[in-house]
Amino acid sequence: MNIDKTKSQKENFKGFKFPLKGDIDALYMSNYVLAADYLARRINSEICLELCCAVGATTIIMAQKMKKIFAIDNNQTRIKNAYLNAKKGNVLKKIEFIVGDVMDDHILKRYKGEIKWVMADPDWSPPKANVRTHAHKLKDTTPPADLLYNKIKKLLTSDIVFRLPISISIDEISSLDPSEIQHVYIKNDLKFFYLYFGKLKRENGITKLWL
Ligand SMILES: C[S@@+](CC[C@H](N)C(=O)[O-])C[C@H]1O[C@@H](n2cnc3c(N)ncnc32)[C@H](O)[C@@H]1O
Repeated sequence: MNIDKTKSQKENFKGFKFPLKGDIDALYMSNYVLAADYLARRINSEICLELCCAVGATTIIMAQKMKKIFAIDNNQTRIKNAYLNAKKGNVLKKIEFIVGDVMDDHILKRYKGEIKWVMADPDWSPPKANVRTHAHKLKDTTPPADLLYNKIKKLLTSDIVFRLPISISIDEISSLDPSEIQHVYIKNDLKFFYLYFGKLKRENGITKLWL
């Protein structure tokens, strides 16, 4: 089902200035404008590969500050809507949208040497579960965050950001490489974690961000 995002975004305080097009699950999963903008300002690196972009909420906001973003999702309808959203947001020329499986080595390898860092935002729910059922283990997101992390590191770069649900414990997250585990609060509610790896982390362990 395609819905106009105006109503759901107001409810979710996502902060978009125009109604994003997208299916209700993609709109529910989409990032906050403030949080996407923070990421682009913090990292300030020119070319990024975004894995699991859905209808482009993060992509469009980051593209306002960056030179180029390659954005991949395996859901064709979401990519079509992401394209329309980017057009409406006047950032289409900075983005290349790709329909594809981010677990496919051949797809990832295409970007080696071209991109400076990777942003990954897997579906927080296990395969076939409702999007509101958030995983407690890295292996239970879709695709599995642990496997995806290792694949990006092996094939592309160690400079990686993940957006993950707060249902995943710090112990579980610490099973990956040392990272900065940023607790992101929107209007004083803890909403999710940004994990920074490689050169993108400022320190090891927990940091907090209020937006
Ligand atoms: C949490 S949403 C991403 C939200 C997006 N970053 C935003 O800010 O709007 C997760 C997305 O991962 C996509 N996805 C799940 N498995 C995938 C895979 N193997 N390859 C590519 N995309 C995948 C889903 O289609 C979904 O759109």
